[in-house]
Amino acid sequence: MRSFLGRDILSLKDFERSEFFRVFEIAEDLEPIARNRQNTDLLQGKTLVTAFYQPSTRTRLAHEAAMIRLGGQVTGFSDAKMTRAGDFYQESIKDTVKMLEFYGDVIVMRHFQQGAPAEAAKWASIPIINGGDGWGEHPTQILTDLYTVYQEKGRIDGLKWLAVGDMRMRTMHSLAYGLTQFDCPITFVSPEGQRLSDEMKADLRNYSLDFNEVEHVEQAIADADVILVEPVVQPDYTKSRDERTGEVDLTPSNYKITRELLENKAKSDAILLHSLPRMDEIPPDVDITRWSRYWQEAFNGVVMRMALLALVLGATE
Ligand code: CP
Repeated sequence: MRSFLGRDILSLKDFERSEFFRVFEIAEDLEPIARNRQNTDLLQGKTLVTAFYQPSTRTRLAHEAAMIRLGGQVTGFSDAKMTRAGDFYQESIKDTVKMLEFYGDVIVMRHFQQGAPAEAAKWASIPIINGGDGWGEHPTQILTDLYTVYQEKGRIDGLKWLAVGDMRMRTMHSLAYGLTQFDCPITFVSPEGQRLSDEMKADLRNYSLDFNEVEHVEQAIADADVILVEPVVQPDYTKSRDERTGEVDLTPSNYKITRELLENKAKSDAILLHSLPRMDEIPPDVDITRWSRYWQEAFNGVVMRMALLALVLGATE
């Protein structure tokens, strides 16, 4: 297995099976710190730099919370408009990270351009963690989701997945690549115009992922052990900011997980994940049902970032 020390976390493509289990093992070791709301000194003397060129609630704050739980420091920006990258200069990724690398020991970057964190990693001498890049990938979110399944089900192999939402979404790409390392058939449900690209499907076949596509959640929900949902009513992820103007569409029933659907069609022990934020694709009355695991997923978001920071900064090897 490759060492995590000093490593960039850019994509789940080519993330090896043993590496998933190594990350889960460290997450399990560190989880009591977060559960007991303690702070430790594991990363004392280390600093996380947050470089967020797109809005975020969970990804930025979970990384920051994780760093603080481990005794490290945090600096950075949550709005590139307050930096030279977001004003007249439009400072390049290269010039920006050639500065940021002197302000800390690891950088988590979210960007509206696919590939921006990989570009940053070309120039930075410290690890870059991809916090979501355009329609590209969101590896730390899907590591969180896989860890949540591992915790809730005790395994990942042998579980059937249903993924519902916009398949252009970065989480869906990381999910598909992540599942290539497990024995997990997956069914995708998405609207016309939001389907997996032909290029992506060819790539997934190349990695031997067992997948199919159907039109309506009702066609696949009965078989699913894990139901992962994302919105189909979405902003444009290639923009630095996409404000809501006026009314937004409602989610068609094909892509909606209602309480009635869960009660009548889902396996009684299936689990329902959503990385959030949500629109109306999971109504709030689902939250208290036994299927929902998205608040657990949110907690695990901190635990997973603790594991990744500890690994890339060498606190665990
Ligand atoms: N799940 C997720 O990436 O949420 P944020 O956009 O709030 O970071």
